[in-house]
Amino acid sequence: MSNRVMIFDSTLRDGEQTPGAKLNAQEKVKIARQLARLNVDVIEAGFPISSPGDLKAVQQISREVKGPIIAALARAVKEDIDCAWDSVKEAEKPRLHVFLAASDIHMEKKLRKSPETCLQEAVEAVRYAKSFTDDVEYSLEDSTRAREDYILKVVEAVIDAGATVVNLPDTVGYTVPEEYGRLIHLINTKVPNIHKTILSVHCHNDLGLAVINSLVAVENGARQIECNVNGIGERAGNAALEEIVMAMVIRGDKYPYYSGINTKEIYRTSRLVSKLTGIPIPLNKAVIGLNAFAHSSGIHQDGVLKDKRTYEIINADLIGGQAAQMVLTARSGRHAVRHQLETMNYHLENGEFEAFYQKYVELADKKKEIYKEDLEAMLIDVSYAESTYELEYLQTVSGTRTIPAAVVRLSKGGEIFEEVASGSGPIDAAYKAVEKITGIDTDMENYNLRAVSPGMDALGEVSLKINYKDKNIIGRGMSTDIVEASVKAYLDGINKLIRLISNNNHKQANSVSKSGS
Ligand code: KIV
Ligand code: ZN
Repeated sequence: MSNRVMIFDSTLRDGEQTPGAKLNAQEKVKIARQLARLNVDVIEAGFPISSPGDLKAVQQISREVKGPIIAALARAVKEDIDCAWDSVKEAEKPRLHVFLAASDIHMEKKLRKSPETCLQEAVEAVRYAKSFTDDVEYSLEDSTRAREDYILKVVEAVIDAGATVVNLPDTVGYTVPEEYGRLIHLINTKVPNIHKTILSVHCHNDLGLAVINSLVAVENGARQIECNVNGIGERAGNAALEEIVMAMVIRGDKYPYYSGINTKEIYRTSRLVSKLTGIPIPLNKAVIGLNAFAHSSGIHQDGVLKDKRTYEIINADLIGGQAAQMVLTARSGRHAVRHQLETMNYHLENGEFEAFYQKYVELADKKKEIYKEDLEAMLIDVSYAESTYELEYLQTVSGTRTIPAAVVRLSKGGEIFEEVASGSGPIDAAYKAVEKITGIDTDMENYNLRAVSPGMDALGEVSLKINYKDKNIIGRGMSTDIVEASVKAYLDGINKLIRLISNNNHKQANSVSKSGS
């Protein structure tokens, strides 16, 4: 048996079943193209009978996305299979994926059908799907709570009917590694026609075991893993694609299996899925969370600076991610702080550095995490403080039938400036008014709004990243009014930018006068 494992991505089907993750056709196509770049073997593009919109999206993906097999899901009924075929028939490599319950609880309580009827329907459905295409996958829904003798009977029967892939979903995330491995092993050794099919696994994460269950299944003979980018999916989600792939890459000694995934596309795919589904990636998410390559403890930072391998098992380059970043904290020592400054091109002499470090320690006591942008702000001479803009007054209008507009009044060094602007929303209008006053036109790379505390009256915190020429600045602002928080964050960024530019000019002027004297 080959050690090549097929990666079946269901981000666009099971992943889209995540509450709130609805995608439109355009977004689904965009993700499908990226999945093709990631080089997944199969893209399960949707469940076409579920909505006309989904049918259209799967059709468009089938027409436009080349490379992977494009699969569509169908219940074991003709109407679903017809619709699924209609959606994938133009694909370069189409697959029909048919499923039906296999556990007593699903058959009795949900379908109110006997196991014999279900078995017969399964066989008929596979035969029917087979009349359209050779590539037919059959899933025994809730198989991990089904009777083993029944599973063996169904698997053999659907293979006889022509199923080329047989999937054993842990639909409710109930199984544990040892038990799932045993089930896969049993099927592999007891089903006489098993060699005619690929055994597939599909694990949900209700107990947090989806990834390990999938890997153990592979050890026992499964050769297709169904998984989703960022582990999104129904309820607690599905096995995370990036975790499975990287476990096989990094621990090839223990899992000597390989996929065709282009790991350098993992980071990009993950960010795209998060952006389009609106489901944030937890900071501590394995492999792709922001903190996965951040080092906070002083001892760890010191180790990583000496040799990355001391505390990093995945090289960020391998997943196409950004180089490791240090999140400085009160625990960071002089070595780490100096290193961070040097990566930012600030080379302080010993006395200068000591003074800076004392300021740093004071700030780190108040603020949990210190980013590059904070260091940059600390390096700025306080004598430029009077050059900052402050928000004096803000009024916005918005609504379904009005053009959003904003009046912004700012003060700077005792002078008052006021401007009015319209925009696509009240925040956009307010930003345009700020730009008119400051004369600084920046690019907004990032905008994040989060509630600092629970409840309707929560403080909203906005953090954003603005780019101006070669400078990237982070601005932050807080208020119970999100428009005000947004303007404060923008002004914070603009003020830092102005100080940074003034400081650079000041330094340049100083060095010119020093060299001239
Ligand atoms: O979890 C499940 O059982 C499924 C099947 C439809 C494959 O998603
Ligand atoms: Zn599922």
